[in-house]
Amino acid sequence: MAIREILKLPDERLKQVSTPVERFDADLLLAIADLEETRQAGPAAVGIAAPQVGWFARVVIVDVSTKKGVPNHGHLILVNPEIEHWEGFDMGREGCLSVPDYTGNVIRATRIRLTACTPLGEPLAFEMEGFEARAVQHELDHLDGMLFIDRVVSRRTDLFQRKVYAGKGRSSSGGKPDRKSQGDAGGA
Ligand code: NI
Repeated sequence: MAIREILKLPDERLKQVSTPVERFDADLLLAIADLEETRQAGPAAVGIAAPQVGWFARVVIVDVSTKKGVPNHGHLILVNPEIEHWEGFDMGREGCLSVPDYTGNVIRATRIRLTACTPLGEPLAFEMEGFEARAVQHELDHLDGMLFIDRVVSRRTDLFQRKVYAGKGRSSSGGKPDRKSQGDAGGA
């Protein structure tokens, strides 16, 4: 296994649309293992999408179980995920491993119905709500070349500069401390 480099803004490859997985083989499992290792090596991201490590396949990992009091389905590896149904909407703060210097307020559906496959090709279906639904919507955007900053209503009022990315101790110049974002960054 290996930790992969995370593509960061303004890398144009983040705009690439990823292709569906067709072969459920050992190579897929190895690539997923790298993706998970990379997620865990970072600042405790609740999610990661394959294109963030330069692998343009429709694969995401989401795990919001570390957030207290949030309904969730645990650690999920989602291959070829599709949102079948959206309901409601809510504004929430998101962050992203590919946009390390900012968080932003993004409107997302509050409830979704999702289908996907396991890494072995078995079908999955979930009803999700709240933070988990938000994290999944954030990660699926990556598969279509979208970042959360493409969805903020106003870049002037809804983008916030991070002082420190959670757990990394890395500082960036300027900006105000953004305490709320540290535990509330919806994905990666
Ligand atoms: Ni992200």
